[in-house]
Order: sequence, then C-alpha cells, then structure tokens
Amino acid sequence: MTDTFAQDVLNGLTAKNKHLSSKYFYDDNGSRIFQEIMNMPEYYLTDAEFEILSMQSKQIVEALQFSQPFNIIELGAGDGLKTFKLLEYLVNNNIHFYYVPIDISQEAIDLLTTRLKERLPSIVIKPKVGDYFEILKDNKKSDYPSLLLFLGSNVGNYQEDKTIELLQLFNENMKIGDKLLVGFDLKKNPITIHNAYYDSHGITKRFNLNLLLRINRELDADFKIDDFDFYCHYNPITGDVKSYIISLRKQIVYLKKLKTSIDFEYNELIWTELSKKYSIEEIEELAKKSSFNINTNFLDCKHYFTDSLWEK
Ligand code: AVJ
Repeated sequence: MTDTFAQDVLNGLTAKNKHLSSKYFYDDNGSRIFQEIMNMPEYYLTDAEFEILSMQSKQIVEALQFSQPFNIIELGAGDGLKTFKLLEYLVNNNIHFYYVPIDISQEAIDLLTTRLKERLPSIVIKPKVGDYFEILKDNKKSDYPSLLLFLGSNVGNYQEDKTIELLQLFNENMKIGDKLLVGFDLKKNPITIHNAYYDSHGITKRFNLNLLLRINRELDADFKIDDFDFYCHYNPITGDVKSYIISLRKQIVYLKKLKTSIDFEYNELIWTELSKKYSIEEIEELAKKSSFNINTNFLDCKHYFTDSLWEK
C-alpha cells in the first residue's frame, strides 16, 4: 500500500508537469475534510444526489425489474450514507436484497456497517474491503441479479480513456440484465461549479494541502504547507474542473524515505485532481462506448446531477 503510494508520489513529483493522484486525498484526515466539503452549501453535488435518492427510490427500484432476492453492490461506499434513502425504501417495502458495500478503508466500512445495522436492523449487509474488481469477479457467479452503485460523481475523477476502461471493466464483470447506477455531475452555470470547488472558506484548499501533510508523514518529507497554495479552474467547454497546488516560492523539498530532493520553481504547479462534468449527450456517448443501454436518467429538480441507470 505505502509502496504504491511512494512510487506514485515519486513518479508524479519527478515528472515534467508535476502531478499527484486525488485518490491519495482520502487518508483518515482527508476523509474527514471531505465530509466538511459535503456539508458546504456550495458543494451542491451531495444535496442533489440526496434529493434524487430520497424522492425517486421507488422509480429507481421499479426500473430495475429484478426478481428477488437481488444484490446491491456499492463501489467506494465510503461512509455511504448517501445510499441510506435507497436502502431504507427497500427495507420499508420488504424487498429482499443483499447490500454489499465495498471500500478500501476498513474504518469506513466498519462505521457504515454499525450505523446501518442501527438504523435498519433487518438489513442484510455483506461488507467487503479491498479492490473493486476482485470482488466484482466473484459477483458474476452470483445466482441473483445485481445492481452496481457508483455514486457521488466519483466517475468524474477519471480522464476520458480511463473512464471508458473502467466502465467496460464493470460491464465485463456483470451478467446480462444486471444494472449500474452511476452518478454524474452535469454541466451547468460555470459560476455554480466554480464556487463548489474554489470555496471561500478554504476547505477545498485544506483538502488538497492535506496531501502534502500525508507525504510529510508517510514519506518523511519536509513540505512547508505555508509555502504552497491552491488553485482550481473550470473549463465549461470541456467540463473539466482541474485542481492544483501552487509553489509560492522557488524551493527544494526533501523526501527522506525516498532519498530524493524535489525542486520547485516559483509558481510551479502540481496537478492534483480532475472533477469532470458531463452533458446528457456525453453520458449517452459513454454508455454506448462501454456497451451499456441507458434505462433512465434520474435528475434532481434543478437538473444539476443525474443518477443514470444503465443495463447490460
Ligand atoms: C468525491 C471525487 C466526487 O470531484 O467533486 C470535492 C471530490 N474534490 N471537492 C469531486 C472533491 C474537491 C469529489 N468526488
């Protein structure tokens, strides 16, 4: 685990255009800062998806047309309470299903499991910690139909070719008739998007700079956090929000564990994240390229977000 982290950090910081992967944001502290982001009024994504799952669970479940029991497999469940409304609907209507939340964080999965058992005592949970695809492969052998959940616009973190690869991989590990509910953040007024990421409280800045703290701790480095800042930019044509850490000085950082010095120029950037926004047409294109049929787009009332139901 730490070894891949070390290798990825080394590759990213010695590249001509420096970069670090946003997947490393989520250590315990980073996950907590992400909770803060989800609670900001500017971060409309969480509210929009919560509205969809609160108001349209019935329609979503009807569109599945599954025999019972069935599986609900959530990829990257995190603290997973966005899914609560859907699960609650199923339990309250005596629908027979197995909930399989998957996450890389044992702590997140334990917390989710405890809380769900408290709030929905009759739910059957089979939590899994680990790699999506190992677990998905097993699922192909299941006698029951499956709904895969990939919510929260997590798909937005991947660049186009990787997105198609990922969706195709999902497809290969599904049975005919299985469904995928995938959350996309939609293109909208660029100011709304800008404000969700370049927030005035500096929470997203802390979220990014926390990655430098993580490198200090895990790779014994000496990043001085005050010598770095945060910038992000939304391009309404491509739909890309790109986030960066800026070096405020010409400086050298030493990564002791890697026995490596990294030079930073004045105002040099480290690219940290892509948060891609889509139009409905682009979503249709993605579904086609990864061999899915779109069943229904479930949108919130402001049309900010869609949970898109696809079938194999
Ligand atoms: C969890 C990947 C969906 O890209 O909107 C929030 C992470 N980054 N603010 C996103 C994030 C900055 C988030 N995702």
